[in-house]
Amino acid sequence: MIALGSDHGGFALKQEIIKHLEELGLEYTDFGTYSGNSCDYPVYGESVGRAVASGEYARGIIICGTGIGISIAANKVRGVRAALCHDCYSAELTRRHNDANILALGGRVVGAGHALKIVDIFLGTDFEGGRHARRVALIGKLEDGTAC
Ligand code: RB5
Repeated sequence: MIALGSDHGGFALKQEIIKHLEELGLEYTDFGTYSGNSCDYPVYGESVGRAVASGEYARGIIICGTGIGISIAANKVRGVRAALCHDCYSAELTRRHNDANILALGGRVVGAGHALKIVDIFLGTDFEGGRHARRVALIGKLEDGTAC
């Protein structure tokens, strides 16, 4: 299951992603926003962040105008590793090395065609584990207030 969220700046791209996920037969929940009216990106970063951190959703995709604000917000939720990716290489490596569980995109930065490729790579790439698992565990220690 995939958790989706955006503010108004990411709304149009989120609609393209929803269409794409439906064509692929992938299940998702849209946590809003549900129109292009102005709203506050932290609300949607938090909703998707909590949905993924709870374990109910395997991955999340969050979108605002730049992808920056909503990723900062989502990353405040314990257990979230949200990665802002505007290229395919970053999307692949953040899965392989960081075990990122949320993809952030900027709806005003990247075109829909490119964004859908980034989504496919993010959803289709596995974590490598090994030495990367140790590093991801250190991020968890930071969340606990323990030094690396
Ligand atoms: C909204 O205008 C814009 O600030 C927001 O979508 C996002 O880009 C924030 O980081």
